[in-house]
Amino acid sequence: MTQQTSAMATPEAEDRGTVDLRSDTVTRPTPQMYDRIASASLGDDGLDGDPTALELEAEAARLLGKEAAMYAPSATMANLLAILAQAGRQEVVLAEAASHIYVTERGAGALTGAFYQPIAGVDGAMDLGLLAQALEPGRNKLRTGLVCLETSHNNAGGAVLPLAHMQVVFEAAKGAGATVHLDGARMMNAAVALGVPAAEITAFADTVSLCLSKGLSAPMGAVLAGPASTIQRARWHRKLLGGSQRQVGIAAAAGLVAITTMVGRLADDHACARRLAHGIGRLPGLSVNEPQTNIVQVDVSATGFDAARWEAELRKLGVLVRTWGRNRLRCVTHRHTGEREIDVALDAFRVVAGRGDGTPAG
Ligand SMILES: Cc1ncc(COP(=O)(O)O)c(C=O)c1O
Repeated sequence: MTQQTSAMATPEAEDRGTVDLRSDTVTRPTPQMYDRIASASLGDDGLDGDPTALELEAEAARLLGKEAAMYAPSATMANLLAILAQAGRQEVVLAEAASHIYVTERGAGALTGAFYQPIAGVDGAMDLGLLAQALEPGRNKLRTGLVCLETSHNNAGGAVLPLAHMQVVFEAAKGAGATVHLDGARMMNAAVALGVPAAEITAFADTVSLCLSKGLSAPMGAVLAGPASTIQRARWHRKLLGGSQRQVGIAAAAGLVAITTMVGRLADDHACARRLAHGIGRLPGLSVNEPQTNIVQVDVSATGFDAARWEAELRKLGVLVRTWGRNRLRCVTHRHTGEREIDVALDAFRVVAGRGDGTPAG
């Protein structure tokens, strides 16, 4: 297939044959995104601005209820820019212990010069007593510059932080003179699950990152939103990191379609996650979380197969999942996994569950 025809084919057509539950990052652009890209007005974003990027940034600021927003090449970079813009060298960044910023991104401490400190939590929500202790003046002999939240929470199986929890964390941080960053890579999933406008969630954070390339289906990119002065500092850091791109309107055009047309349908992904979880939960030896959004975690420890074996067996049946530790799988629903694909996946889980001998894994 040539690149041209590949771009024109619908993602659903390309998907036939495999059910890819590895991540919502596998979603491909919609036909409307390709159209918007083709007609986008372009400029030099590193020189005097790209009109389509400016349009995305204005729309994202409005959606997220913030003064300003900035395009970033990835959610990882948006989080890094939030930290660089708000936490100084030798300051402490507090983050829930299982959060993406702590588990996967804290190596960026080598660049930021900040110290990442984990706060243990349950379902993605920090223990408030431990947070209060960490924020006590003089506790670290270092100033805490930033507190990071994450919703929906990837490692907590897509759990959504209760707004009351976010409010307590925000007020505690403010009381200690720290700012709050929300890793909102999947925050539109959280907004849909809570049935509230995004701005009701972001009210409890100074800055927020939103990934355009997960359930929202843009091919790349993220946005960082917050106060204009913070976003201005983040722009400067983006330039330093080489993250300022030229005719970035190509990516921003898809991002605009993502935030203006793709939010409502996330409810379908959540319904499919529930269908998948309920089906798997009925199979012998398997237990699952009750999904609040689009992530299903499957505990395979009582099946006789470890997660790697499950992943390999499911792959042979055309169902792709990811191992999430020794005895756990992660399945993520998205635009290319409708009810039909979920039923195919359930059949595969049923077949593999029948092959295990049911002994507990070591
Ligand atoms: C909660 C969260 N934040 C940030 C990221 C980083 O996204 P990316 O790898 O697209 O930069 C991810 C990726 O899965 C994530 O789950």
